[in-house]
Amino acid sequence: MKTTDFDFQLVPAPLLAWYNANKRDLEWRVNPTSYRVWVSEIMLQQTRVEAVKEYYARFMRELPTLQALATCEEEKLLKLWEGLGYYSRVRNMQKAAKEIVERFGGEFPSDEKSLKSLPGIGAYTVGAIRSIAFGLRAPAVDGNVFRVASRLSENPTVISDPAYRKYLEEKLLAVYPEEGEDCSAFTQSLMELGALICKPQTPDCRVCPLNGICRANAHGTQNDYPVLPEKKAKKAEKRFVFLIRTKEGISLRKRKEGVLKGMTEFPSESAIDRTPEELLNEWGVGAFKVVKRKTYAHIFTHIRWEMDCILVDADHSPFESRTLEEIRTQVSIPTAFKQCLSLLE
Ligand code: ADE
Repeated sequence: MKTTDFDFQLVPAPLLAWYNANKRDLEWRVNPTSYRVWVSEIMLQQTRVEAVKEYYARFMRELPTLQALATCEEEKLLKLWEGLGYYSRVRNMQKAAKEIVERFGGEFPSDEKSLKSLPGIGAYTVGAIRSIAFGLRAPAVDGNVFRVASRLSENPTVISDPAYRKYLEEKLLAVYPEEGEDCSAFTQSLMELGALICKPQTPDCRVCPLNGICRANAHGTQNDYPVLPEKKAKKAEKRFVFLIRTKEGISLRKRKEGVLKGMTEFPSESAIDRTPEELLNEWGVGAFKVVKRKTYAHIFTHIRWEMDCILVDADHSPFESRTLEEIRTQVSIPTAFKQCLSLLE
């Protein structure tokens, strides 16, 4: 890992002034309790601010307290998350909520060790909760912060190097404001600058409050930083996905393994070993007739599914069936499968 002699002490004053004048009105910035901040940070981990807004508002309406989250039925919880993806995030959130009730009497802990011991809460989320909700001096280094800091200091270290995260956490911690609201503002100002000005492709350096101290701006090297890890090629997998329609409705089952384990799916299998007819016979689907077929793709973090989606009418199905209306309103179906419903149009 490379260190630099960039003086991070120069950052807080101009950045805080800019943030206070330019920050976006976001629901989780109003009344930033630990619960509200936590939910927003988990949602924002893999999803853009614009996409999160509506989900956040609905989640808070339905589950306004930690206790409500801890006791929520799984089906309802997954439905609230439907479309956000990476469902382990919300499963872990509920586990953590239960632990906070059981281990901490329902009070959100603010110390690093307790927070880190909770499911789904890593270094970034610990820093975000401690600084934004509790006003403590605690950095939260996400992709935005890596980008801002790497450009300011022209640090050529790849951001996947854990030592680089630690280094930046230490550098930033040393320049945090006094405990209180400015700690919340400083954490969010770094992210906000990354989101609004110091953008990945086309940074707006002319209006950046840090343009006078930024080494990448001085040298025109913005596009060289941050150094990102090499992308691995995604493996492709061909799958059959069956919309099995009987008079009871459409067949559903729980996924037992692999990506989306534990989620509800339209019965699906790898398309390598068996034909669709063989699969339907093997499952015991009675007297079926193929009505329509369409192909879709869905890209996950490490894999790409090429789905051959097949609508069949059948006399009976060994799987649980739900009506289309129930599927639309009550059951959470991952986006990868949901697109197959357009076969019914
Ligand atoms: N990205 C993640 N958390 C954020 C926050 N609190 N403000 C702006 N962008 C964010």
